[in-house]
Amino acid sequence: MNATTLTVAVEALDAEAATAAIPALAEILRDCVANGASVGFMNWNTLADYERFWRDVAASVADGQVILLAARTADGLVGTAQLHLIGKPNQPHRAEIAKVLVHSRARRQGIGEALMRAAEAIAREKGRDLLVLDTDEHGAARRLYNRLGWTEVGTIPRYALMPDGADCGSTFFYKELR
Ligand SMILES: CC(C)(COP(=O)(O)OP(=O)(O)OC[C@H]1O[C@@H](n2cnc3c(N)ncnc32)[C@H](O)[C@@H]1OP(=O)(O)O)[C@@H](O)C(=O)NCCC(=O)NCCS
Repeated sequence: MNATTLTVAVEALDAEAATAAIPALAEILRDCVANGASVGFMNWNTLADYERFWRDVAASVADGQVILLAARTADGLVGTAQLHLIGKPNQPHRAEIAKVLVHSRARRQGIGEALMRAAEAIAREKGRDLLVLDTDEHGAARRLYNRLGWTEVGTIPRYALMPDGADCGSTFFYKELR
Protein backbone atom coordinates (compact mmCIF):
# COMPACT_ATOMS: atom_id res chain seq x y z
CA MET A 1 0.00 0.00 0.00
CA ASN A 2 1.16 3.52 -0.73
CA ALA A 3 0.69 5.84 2.24
CA THR A 4 -0.02 8.84 0.02
CA THR A 5 -2.95 7.12 -1.73
CA LEU A 6 -4.37 5.07 1.14
CA THR A 7 -8.13 5.19 1.40
CA VAL A 8 -9.52 3.91 4.67
CA ALA A 9 -13.21 3.52 5.42
CA VAL A 10 -14.27 3.15 9.05
CA GLU A 11 -17.75 1.80 9.76
CA ALA A 12 -19.70 0.51 12.74
CA LEU A 13 -20.68 -3.14 12.31
CA ASP A 14 -24.09 -4.42 13.32
CA ALA A 15 -24.23 -7.83 15.02
CA GLU A 16 -24.67 -9.70 11.74
CA ALA A 17 -21.73 -7.91 10.10
CA ALA A 18 -19.66 -8.42 13.26
CA THR A 19 -20.34 -12.16 13.12
CA ALA A 20 -19.43 -12.28 9.45
CA ALA A 21 -16.19 -10.43 10.20
CA ILE A 22 -15.04 -12.83 12.95
CA PRO A 23 -12.37 -14.59 10.82
CA ALA A 24 -10.81 -11.25 9.79
CA LEU A 25 -11.04 -9.84 13.32
CA ALA A 26 -9.49 -13.00 14.77
CA GLU A 27 -6.61 -12.70 12.31
CA ILE A 28 -6.01 -9.07 13.36
CA LEU A 29 -6.00 -10.08 17.03
CA ARG A 30 -3.71 -13.04 16.32
CA ASP A 31 -1.33 -10.78 14.44
CA CYS A 32 -1.26 -8.15 17.20
CA VAL A 33 -0.53 -10.75 19.91
CA ALA A 34 2.08 -12.45 17.70
CA ASN A 35 3.77 -9.06 17.34
CA GLY A 36 3.93 -8.58 21.11
CA ALA A 37 0.88 -6.42 21.90
CA SER A 38 -0.52 -6.70 25.42
CA VAL A 39 -4.20 -6.85 24.49
CA GLY A 40 -5.65 -9.45 26.82
CA PHE A 41 -4.10 -12.60 25.38
CA MET A 42 -0.92 -14.66 25.71
CA ASN A 43 1.26 -16.15 23.01
CA TRP A 44 -0.15 -19.60 23.77
CA ASN A 45 -3.69 -18.52 22.92
CA THR A 46 -5.13 -20.05 19.76
CA LEU A 47 -7.28 -18.88 16.88
CA ALA A 48 -10.22 -20.60 18.61
CA ASP A 49 -9.69 -18.29 21.64
CA TYR A 50 -9.65 -15.23 19.40
CA GLU A 51 -12.79 -16.33 17.55
CA ARG A 52 -14.56 -16.93 20.87
CA PHE A 53 -13.59 -13.45 21.99
CA TRP A 54 -15.09 -11.87 18.84
CA ARG A 55 -18.25 -13.98 19.15
CA ASP A 56 -18.72 -12.48 22.63
CA VAL A 57 -18.11 -9.00 21.19
CA ALA A 58 -20.72 -9.65 18.47
CA ALA A 59 -23.18 -10.62 21.24
CA SER A 60 -22.43 -7.34 23.04
CA VAL A 61 -23.01 -5.47 19.77
CA ALA A 62 -26.39 -7.20 19.53
CA ASP A 63 -27.15 -6.12 23.12
CA GLY A 64 -26.26 -2.52 22.29
CA GLN A 65 -23.46 -2.43 24.89
CA VAL A 66 -20.61 -2.21 22.40
CA ILE A 67 -20.08 -0.32 19.16
CA LEU A 68 -17.63 -2.25 17.01
CA LEU A 69 -15.69 -0.32 14.40
CA ALA A 70 -14.00 -1.85 11.37
CA ALA A 71 -11.40 -0.13 9.20
CA ARG A 72 -11.15 -1.33 5.63
CA THR A 73 -8.71 -0.54 2.88
CA ALA A 74 -8.32 -2.11 -0.54
CA ASP A 75 -6.60 -4.91 1.43
CA GLY A 76 -9.81 -5.70 3.31
CA LEU A 77 -10.51 -5.43 7.04
CA VAL A 78 -7.22 -4.27 8.59
CA GLY A 79 -8.21 -2.53 11.83
CA THR A 80 -10.80 -2.37 14.55
CA ALA A 81 -11.76 -0.53 17.74
CA GLN A 82 -14.57 -0.69 20.29
CA LEU A 83 -16.62 1.86 22.14
CA HIS A 84 -18.10 0.40 25.32
CA LEU A 85 -21.17 2.30 26.45
CA ILE A 86 -21.28 2.31 30.23
CA GLY A 87 -24.67 1.08 31.35
CA LYS A 88 -24.51 2.37 34.93
CA PRO A 89 -27.28 4.84 35.80
CA ASN A 90 -24.77 7.26 37.34
CA GLN A 91 -22.43 7.28 34.32
CA PRO A 92 -24.65 8.11 31.34
CA HIS A 93 -22.02 10.51 30.02
CA ARG A 94 -19.07 8.09 29.95
CA ALA A 95 -17.76 5.47 27.53
CA GLU A 96 -14.61 3.38 27.24
CA ILE A 97 -12.50 2.72 24.20
CA ALA A 98 -11.01 -0.76 23.90
CA LYS A 99 -9.13 -3.11 21.57
CA VAL A 100 -7.78 -0.56 19.10
CA LEU A 101 -6.01 -2.98 16.77
CA VAL A 102 -4.40 -2.50 13.38
CA HIS A 103 -2.87 -5.43 11.50
CA SER A 104 0.91 -5.12 11.36
CA ARG A 105 0.83 -5.07 7.55
CA ALA A 106 -1.25 -1.87 7.60
CA ARG A 107 0.32 0.20 10.39
CA ARG A 108 1.81 3.70 10.29
CA GLN A 109 -0.59 4.95 7.64
CA GLY A 110 -3.13 6.72 9.83
CA ILE A 111 -5.59 3.84 10.31
CA GLY A 112 -5.27 3.89 14.11
CA GLU A 113 -5.95 7.61 14.09
CA ALA A 114 -8.94 7.16 11.76
CA LEU A 115 -10.40 4.55 14.12
CA MET A 116 -9.94 6.82 17.14
CA ARG A 117 -11.51 9.81 15.41
CA ALA A 118 -14.48 7.67 14.35
CA ALA A 119 -14.89 6.30 17.90
CA GLU A 120 -14.85 9.82 19.33
CA ALA A 121 -17.40 11.02 16.74
CA ILE A 122 -19.77 8.16 17.60
CA ALA A 123 -19.33 8.82 21.31
CA ARG A 124 -20.41 12.42 20.71
CA GLU A 125 -23.44 11.26 18.70
CA LYS A 126 -24.37 8.98 21.61
CA GLY A 127 -24.13 11.84 24.08
CA ARG A 128 -20.97 10.52 25.74
CA ASP A 129 -18.57 13.35 26.51
CA LEU A 130 -16.08 11.61 28.80
CA LEU A 131 -13.98 8.81 27.34
CA VAL A 132 -11.45 6.61 29.11
CA LEU A 133 -9.00 3.93 28.03
CA ASP A 134 -5.82 2.22 29.10
CA THR A 135 -2.90 0.86 27.17
CA ASP A 136 0.52 -0.79 27.44
CA GLU A 137 2.90 1.85 28.79
CA HIS A 138 5.51 1.04 26.13
CA GLY A 139 3.24 0.54 23.09
CA ALA A 140 2.75 2.72 20.00
CA ALA A 141 -0.82 3.38 21.14
CA ARG A 142 0.41 5.61 23.97
CA ARG A 143 1.91 8.03 21.43
CA LEU A 144 -1.26 7.87 19.33
CA TYR A 145 -3.51 8.83 22.26
CA ASN A 146 -1.21 11.65 23.35
CA ARG A 147 -1.12 12.93 19.75
CA LEU A 148 -4.93 12.96 19.65
CA GLY A 149 -5.22 15.12 22.76
CA TRP A 150 -5.93 12.50 25.39
CA THR A 151 -4.76 13.19 28.96
CA GLU A 152 -2.53 10.71 30.72
CA VAL A 153 -3.62 10.01 34.29
CA GLY A 154 -0.77 7.69 35.21
CA THR A 155 0.72 4.25 34.87
CA ILE A 156 -0.02 1.26 37.06
CA PRO A 157 3.00 -1.06 37.09
CA ARG A 158 2.53 -4.80 36.52
CA TYR A 159 -1.11 -4.26 35.56
CA ALA A 160 -1.04 -7.01 32.94
CA LEU A 161 1.31 -9.38 31.19
CA MET A 162 2.94 -9.18 27.80
CA PRO A 163 2.15 -12.18 25.53
CA ASP A 164 5.49 -13.75 26.57
CA GLY A 165 4.69 -13.45 30.29
CA ALA A 166 6.77 -10.34 31.07
CA ASP A 167 5.25 -7.66 33.28
CA CYS A 168 3.42 -4.82 31.55
CA GLY A 169 2.41 -1.51 33.07
CA SER A 170 -0.83 0.10 31.89
CA THR A 171 -1.15 3.81 31.27
CA PHE A 172 -4.63 5.26 31.85
CA PHE A 173 -6.04 8.11 29.76
CA TYR A 174 -9.17 10.21 29.56
CA LYS A 175 -10.53 12.69 27.05
CA GLU A 176 -13.32 15.20 27.57
CA LEU A 177 -15.28 15.87 24.40
CA ARG A 178 -16.99 19.01 25.67
C1 LIG B 1 -1.45 1.31 18.25
C2 LIG B 1 -1.91 1.00 16.85
C3 LIG B 1 -3.41 0.73 16.85
C4 LIG B 1 -1.62 2.20 15.94
O1 LIG B 1 -2.14 1.91 14.64
P1 LIG B 1 -1.59 2.65 13.34
O2 LIG B 1 -2.57 2.43 12.26
O3 LIG B 1 -0.19 2.29 13.09
O4 LIG B 1 -1.67 4.19 13.84
P2 LIG B 1 -1.33 5.50 13.03
O5 LIG B 1 -0.84 5.12 11.66
O6 LIG B 1 -2.47 6.42 13.14
O7 LIG B 1 -0.12 6.11 13.88
C5 LIG B 1 1.03 5.32 14.12
C6 LIG B 1 2.29 6.05 13.69
O8 LIG B 1 2.33 6.15 12.28
C7 LIG B 1 2.59 7.51 11.92
N1 LIG B 1 1.93 7.75 10.63
C8 LIG B 1 0.61 7.91 10.42
N2 LIG B 1 0.39 8.10 9.09
C9 LIG B 1 1.59 8.03 8.49
C10 LIG B 1 2.00 8.13 7.13
N3 LIG B 1 1.11 8.34 6.16
N4 LIG B 1 3.31 8.00 6.85
C11 LIG B 1 4.21 7.79 7.84
N5 LIG B 1 3.89 7.67 9.16
C12 LIG B 1 2.58 7.78 9.46
C13 LIG B 1 2.02 8.32 13.05
O9 LIG B 1 2.57 9.61 13.14
C14 LIG B 1 2.40 7.46 14.23
O10 LIG B 1 3.76 7.68 14.55
P3 LIG B 1 4.37 7.39 16.02
O11 LIG B 1 4.03 5.97 16.39
O12 LIG B 1 5.82 7.59 15.86
O13 LIG B 1 3.71 8.36 16.94
C15 LIG B 1 -1.14 -0.23 16.28
O14 LIG B 1 0.25 0.00 16.44
C16 LIG B 1 -1.50 -1.54 16.93
O15 LIG B 1 -2.46 -2.18 16.53
N6 LIG B 1 -0.72 -1.95 17.95
C17 LIG B 1 -0.94 -3.24 18.60
C18 LIG B 1 -2.23 -3.27 19.37
C19 LIG B 1 -2.26 -2.30 20.51
O16 LIG B 1 -1.34 -2.21 21.30
N7 LIG B 1 -3.38 -1.56 20.57
C20 LIG B 1 -3.64 -0.63 21.65
C21 LIG B 1 -4.57 -1.26 22.63
S1 LIG B 1 -5.30 -0.03 23.67
